[in-house]
Amino acid sequence: MTRFTLSSPLDMHLHLREGDMLELVAPLSARPFAGAVVMPNLVEPVNSRDKLVRYREAIYDAIGDELFIPWMTLFFRNYSEAELAEVKDDIIGVKLYPAGITTNSEAGVSNLHDIESTLTLMQEMHIPLLVHGESSGFVLDREKEFLEVYAQLAKAYPQLTIIMEHITTRDAVELLDQYENLYATITLHHLLITLNDVAGGLLAPHLFCKPIAKRPEDRDALAQAALSGHPKVMFGSDSAPHPVHKKECSGCAAGVFTAPLALPMLTGWFEQHGALDNLQDFISGNAQRIYKITPPEKIITLVKEPWQVPGKYGNVVPFAAGQELPWRMINQ
Ligand code: NCD
Ligand code: ZN
Repeated sequence: MTRFTLSSPLDMHLHLREGDMLELVAPLSARPFAGAVVMPNLVEPVNSRDKLVRYREAIYDAIGDELFIPWMTLFFRNYSEAELAEVKDDIIGVKLYPAGITTNSEAGVSNLHDIESTLTLMQEMHIPLLVHGESSGFVLDREKEFLEVYAQLAKAYPQLTIIMEHITTRDAVELLDQYENLYATITLHHLLITLNDVAGGLLAPHLFCKPIAKRPEDRDALAQAALSGHPKVMFGSDSAPHPVHKKECSGCAAGVFTAPLALPMLTGWFEQHGALDNLQDFISGNAQRIYKITPPEKIITLVKEPWQVPGKYGNVVPFAAGQELPWRMINQ
């Protein structure tokens, strides 16, 4: 039986939600991954140390005995030096959302000039800045239009670690090589799908997410970066569960749920491209170096045996629902 092992896989961009949804999805990440960067866009954003500590406790309750570190993020607002000093050891970074650009981001940033003091503090205190980089322009151009902002930030704060979250374009991949302090996460679904899969035939609500999947040449550039083990690129699933009634309706919520199938699917895809040797860097090594983190030691074993992705996890339809994959995780 062909086996493949991954050492301490990490998901550097994950939505765990709250309440019943947290209970449902947290174990599905905590089993296969050694840790994840947890997004703060709850209905009431995680924007104080108190909220963050309460949220982290709820996550630990939901994951039970699994060896898994939830690396917490704060929702960006202007923070004082005292606030940042108090929370520094509890966070891996601060997540900036342009106001209203995606799910639960109404409290995001409207004017980048208003946040200079907080960015300066973050730079001094070595707190990474994680960014949802989209303008409010034409949907296919939103990331491209935002690249100018990334460049400005990278230049103005050269010691600030800036993560371009869930990049979807060739232009974003190219920008990585222009500024030393720019890094990126890439999702599983953006490696696999284009806008055609979302809206080229019958509308596919379970593939609808922000940023929207782009053109084939964009997907190819992302694939090239991931498969080659580009040192500035990390896996971040952006697994973002919504209950089925919020997806299969008029006004479909944005988000693709990939957490439980991400490792088997990535393994099959890297193998198919003859790049299995680079998966470890993409799934863990690069993130450890970029964020200067040491995850708990956790070996995940996959075997080459067909596995059918469930049609649903609770009330959530996953990516590739019902599809047969060539690899499965042991103990899945
Ligand atoms: C995310 C969500 O549902 O919280 N949705 C998404 O489409 N990716 C928010 C986000 O990361 O943009
Ligand atoms: Zn996200």
